[in-house]
Amino acid sequence: MKRDSSLVTKAAITAVGSYVPEEVLTNHDLEQMVDTNDEWIRSRTGISERRIAKNPQHSTGFMAVKAAQNLCQNNHIDPSTIDLVLVATITPDYQVSSTAPYVATQIGATNAFAFDISAACSGFLYGMSTAASFISSNQYKKVLLIGADKMSSIIDYTDRATCIIFGDGAGAALFEASDNGFGFENAIHGNDGIGREYLNIQEGGSLYPINENTFNAGKHYLNQEGKTVFKYAVKHMAETSKKVIQNNALTAEEIDYVIAHQANKRIIDATTNHLGVAEEKVLTNIHKYGNTTAATLPLLLADFESTFKKGDKLIFTAFGGGFTWGAAYLTWNYDYQN
Ligand code: COA
Repeated sequence: MKRDSSLVTKAAITAVGSYVPEEVLTNHDLEQMVDTNDEWIRSRTGISERRIAKNPQHSTGFMAVKAAQNLCQNNHIDPSTIDLVLVATITPDYQVSSTAPYVATQIGATNAFAFDISAACSGFLYGMSTAASFISSNQYKKVLLIGADKMSSIIDYTDRATCIIFGDGAGAALFEASDNGFGFENAIHGNDGIGREYLNIQEGGSLYPINENTFNAGKHYLNQEGKTVFKYAVKHMAETSKKVIQNNALTAEEIDYVIAHQANKRIIDATTNHLGVAEEKVLTNIHKYGNTTAATLPLLLADFESTFKKGDKLIFTAFGGGFTWGAAYLTWNYDYQN
């Protein structure tokens, strides 16, 4: 017998919020710092500018708190009603002491437990599945998922192949138990440990603890083999998105929006070409934020919240360090009200 999907408890997004630092780092600013130019950056990545949290106190935790407060204040959410706070990040405030408990305390989520998710650019997507699992198993009703990264804290601003891509920011989404038939439907995730050869911070972890020599050699900065990462990203985002679309018996025409990780406009275009989804359905804000790692998906949700209509069919996809990747299908739960 066919199951009536309206009777199943789903994890629906009921509110979103965001925060980006005020300071803008343009391509022209980067021209003064490394051997690059605006035309190269725009044509190879689609990025024109990115936000950088120059104030040392404006950490990942600070930005995550701001995004969460933005969500709670705009939507009249009492933080003490939140059951779980998840922070997806690879730039926690401290190596030891996860960022999520700090964020929960700062926003007044006094009844929540909290933990971090480390899956690089796939962190928010993995967090969506985590939030949905806690809700659909009826363990918790309200999960606040935040994607936040201060990438400028791990970037070498003399490395032109890396520093042009990344920016800082945070986005948040509230997932709530819902019985109206809309919400998180399903997802597929994957990983390949070979990825740590191609995208990593080489030293400062337990395998190669930091010392004076590694510090002087800049081994504590993010390091990537861009071309390899590019190929893996397109392959896995396209393949998993296709599977999710097939599993849900959707056609490209039926999909309302694709929310893809904002790593490089050419990666987004190549991925979505494989899906056959019309260009106007593929949402982008990479031109103004660059790659904010775990924050790109929720920043898209916040930027395009007023565009979404109740029942819209959204495909999410992401790829990141590890390697990690995945795709998810979510039906949007509300019409925007100003
Ligand atoms: N400005 C000008 N020239 C640059 C440059 C810059 N900022 N960075 C690299 N170049 C040069 C290279 O030195 C190379 O020169 P050469 O041909 O004389 O050797 C040339 O441009 C091409 O370099 P290449 O690395 O092949 O460029 P690319 O088209 O692959 O673009 C990236 C580089 C990093 C933008 C691209 O590979 C990428 O986006 N990869 C994915 C990275 C990513 O998503 N990381 C996060 C994980 S989700």
